Amino acid sequence: MRFHRFLMIFLYSLTGIVVAWILYHGWDYYSLPLTERPHSDLHTDWKAGGFIGHALGIAGAILMSMLLLYIARKHFRFMQDWGNLRHWLDVHIWMGITGPILVIFHTTFKFGGIVAIAFWSMLAVALSGFLGRYVYLQIPRSLSGAAMSGEQLEQLDDELMGQIRDVHGVDEELIEKLHEDVVPVSKRKTGFAAIFTWIGQDVRLRLALSGLRGELKKRASLGNKEIKDIIDLVRRRTLLKRRMRFLQVSQKILHYWHVIHRPFAIVMFIILAIHIVVAALFGYTWIF
Ligand code: HEM
Ligand code: HEM
Repeated sequence: MRFHRFLMIFLYSLTGIVVAWILYHGWDYYSLPLTERPHSDLHTDWKAGGFIGHALGIAGAILMSMLLLYIARKHFRFMQDWGNLRHWLDVHIWMGITGPILVIFHTTFKFGGIVAIAFWSMLAVALSGFLGRYVYLQIPRSLSGAAMSGEQLEQLDDELMGQIRDVHGVDEELIEKLHEDVVPVSKRKTGFAAIFTWIGQDVRLRLALSGLRGELKKRASLGNKEIKDIIDLVRRRTLLKRRMRFLQVSQKILHYWHVIHRPFAIVMFIILAIHIVVAALFGYTWIF
């Protein structure tokens, strides 16, 4: 777990450093009007087919191809023991963010020709990924990343409630009231509209938790660390209850999200393959 956290911090820092480097050295080129770019000394390296510009396209495409390993890890039996699925998804997302960023610089912000379809498909896939990630998070999962059964959910709910009640001595009524304020039963929605309900509830939960924090602070018996723990437990429990209530809806939305997400990814990879072949036929083979 700690190694994974360290890895993710390292990977996102790497993205930050690379983007900073590109902006620092390439900004003078990117900020030139299109007509002046070919006359610049920077053109040879920074154009889409140049030493750096081309390398950015290749690196971005490699990352976007490697992120498919997540899907392989999820579906192939022989890969089932290869580490935690949640961690694989985190790396999928890192590649899905960093790859398109590198490709944007590769295009030098010129999106013409048939390859523009690959470009917009890439953006559609990556941006819709954020939505997919949000819906994915609505499905309670065990530490291994597998969706939890109804029985496991009930058990976790009891555990959380027990911890809040026994360990910290907070009255159950307060927690139930907070839960019903944030996730009223009447707000049950089906279809994609449920996403807006959840976002509204997330905002209300934040407000309710800061109210609860204020209440708890008035109790002399509770220290800062205890208050922080209680808030965290209450937040987890309220979200768990919400996710249990909407489970069928979120599973359905995630299913449809997959169905919409996939064709964009397929279109992107097909046109990317054509783009690479055409570039190679025109003699753009980077340093080889
Ligand atoms: C999804 C990934 C990619 C997208 C969306 C993309 C997009 C583009 C776009 C929009 C241009 C035109 C830029 C301009 O008009 O100056 C371009 C040029 C170019 N791309 Fe890519 N590219 C991708 C990946 C790659 C890869 C992996 C390679 C090579 C292996 C590559 C090689 C080239 C070359 C050589 C040019 C310059 C062509 C020329 O100047 O005639 N691209 N790319
Ligand atoms: C160009 C970038 C990306 C590509 C090509 C890509 C591609 C894919 C593909 C092909 C799938 C599997 C769909 C299926 O099972 O039918 C997938 C799943 C997923 N992707 Fe991406 N993705 C990209 C970026 C992102 C980003 C940026 C995020 C999040 C911010 C993201 C989050 C997800 C999630 C949450 C899933 C579903 C996981 C699951 O249900 O197990 N992806 N992606």
